[in-house]
Amino acid sequence: MSVDDQISNKSNNQPFHKILEKNTSRRTVLKGGLAAAATTFFATGAGTVLARNHFGDKGDSFFKRKKGGLIGFKAVSVADGNGAMPTISEDYEYQVLIPWGEPIQPYGPSFTWPPISSHQEQQIGIGHDGMTFFPIKKGKKGYGIDKKRGHRAQNSHGLLAINHEFGQNNHVLGKSQPGSLEDVLVSQHAHGVSVIEIKNCGGSWMRVQSDMNRRIHVNTPVAFSGPVADHELLQTPDGNIPLGTVNNCSNGQTPWGTYLTCEENFNGYFGATGAWTATEEQERYGFSSSGFGYGWEKFDTRFDLSNPNFKNEENRFGWVVEIDPMNPDSVPTKRTALGRVKHEGVAITVGKGGRVVAYMGDDQRFDYIYKFVSSGNWRRMRAQGINPLDEGTLYVAKFNDDGSGNWLELSIDNPVLAARFSDQAELLTYTRIAADLLGATPMDRPEWTTVAPNGDVYCTLTNNSKRIASNAANPLIPNPDGHIIKWHDTRKHTGTQFEWEIFLLSEDTHGTEDTLSSPDGILADPDGRLFIQTDGGQKDGLNNQMLVADTLTGEIRRLFTGVTKDEITGITMTPDRRTMFINTQHPGNGDPSLTNFPAPVDGVSIPRDATIVITKKDGGVIGS
Ligand code: FEO
Ligand code: CA
Ligand code: CA
Ligand code: CA
Repeated sequence: MSVDDQISNKSNNQPFHKILEKNTSRRTVLKGGLAAAATTFFATGAGTVLARNHFGDKGDSFFKRKKGGLIGFKAVSVADGNGAMPTISEDYEYQVLIPWGEPIQPYGPSFTWPPISSHQEQQIGIGHDGMTFFPIKKGKKGYGIDKKRGHRAQNSHGLLAINHEFGQNNHVLGKSQPGSLEDVLVSQHAHGVSVIEIKNCGGSWMRVQSDMNRRIHVNTPVAFSGPVADHELLQTPDGNIPLGTVNNCSNGQTPWGTYLTCEENFNGYFGATGAWTATEEQERYGFSSSGFGYGWEKFDTRFDLSNPNFKNEENRFGWVVEIDPMNPDSVPTKRTALGRVKHEGVAITVGKGGRVVAYMGDDQRFDYIYKFVSSGNWRRMRAQGINPLDEGTLYVAKFNDDGSGNWLELSIDNPVLAARFSDQAELLTYTRIAADLLGATPMDRPEWTTVAPNGDVYCTLTNNSKRIASNAANPLIPNPDGHIIKWHDTRKHTGTQFEWEIFLLSEDTHGTEDTLSSPDGILADPDGRLFIQTDGGQKDGLNNQMLVADTLTGEIRRLFTGVTKDEITGITMTPDRRTMFINTQHPGNGDPSLTNFPAPVDGVSIPRDATIVITKKDGGVIGS
């Protein structure tokens, strides 16, 4: 949700092809073997090798084939997936954890509606989205080991770092516009991130009293690091220190144990109370005088685009932010080398030579997919006191019609970019404009990315009802149901070329167990499963949902359906993969006449965003 309905990419990167009408020749834009892979995906049976790859990796032979496939559970049927409460496969069970408004400490202020700001900053935020489970770190042996309980503890005790993407004023405040600074503060404190220590006690998960429980929100001090950190584009005439993170959508985690939270539709929180005209740069990021209608600018001048004292404040948002969940005193740090876009999420992997690689989608119609590669081995960089996300190369993706692709370097050394920007810092602050100039491929709203253990990278392209010209990687005109694209990079994620194919067109799913639309959250597991979450109108009256795909056979089954008018997003597991955490976001769109999920509290029946803990009844791996 929190969709920016505009199209702010006015560059001419669109028509690779003549305008093609849907249902005539869209398949023909997929060439050769790629066409075969895309069109036979659901027609073929078990054992079909989907991933061709010409780079000497193992491809799908990486995975062990299991007789009968990877999915053993009974699917939730279409008929069962449309209620006011969630439905889960009969082979699974679920528990509700940390709904919006629950105090982060057991004896903190309990939920009231609407909240007051001094309480909300001590309570779980709203808009649960991306999250990561960090096994608790105790004892001398290091990561994931609890001294008292040994290795097994890591599957029953940890920190959950969780994004609070957004909450509409009607849901949070009970009115469409704030009437005071206090109202704005409630809204601001409901956004951001929570870090919460959780434990499985007798089969039931609960949050516990902890020095590590923490709220980070729109007024929490933050720092900048990387190429833009000291640049004038991040300074305001007012001289105010950098504060806060907002519209925290999806997430990532680093090999060194930190959490990454991604700022997506940050433009929507700014507005103008006086005369204001958007600059070219502000226009490209979708700023407008009324934003998304939060009204923060009316009582908090920091978000007023027409206030000259806060010129550049908006440049402080749109970044990937690193948080050390194990250190409650750490300052959230915006890693500017990863560029400034509407960051949906960040999928981190380790590539050739131990370089850390980050794949990222910019979620807006006709925006792009990015990759960052650190300049060196991440362990060596850290040993030298350098954060691996501070030094490296940022690329944007160009998907060629023949199934090849190129990562285009976003560097001030490129004369085309040097003619537009004065330095690398300015280029990174306006990453979208730099990508326009290089001719990146405009995509159908890139949402999450995930890296499978065989090196395949998947990205959900959620939908694009406004596409009127196709390219091979975005072949549908329009594309109301979305698709999933898959690619494989050269040089173990660090090269500048890739091969791509379309993994799934949502419109090709139409069975009772697999039908889906608007794929969004996605996670590849070590066995070859792909968890797919949805956000958008589903077919056949279904609520939003989570499905499991077997990438070896092409089979897809529905594991979970949410609550009416919600979105299913956020996904993380314990190391043994026997417990999964997902979220229902904006159940009932906040309307208590549609649902009271998870349950009324003290007479308050407003529905509340919440985390859902999923386990298999037989104790098996989630998805099996
Ligand atoms: Fe926050 Fe694009 O979903
Ligand atoms: Ca400003
Ligand atoms: Ca999303
Ligand atoms: Ca979405």
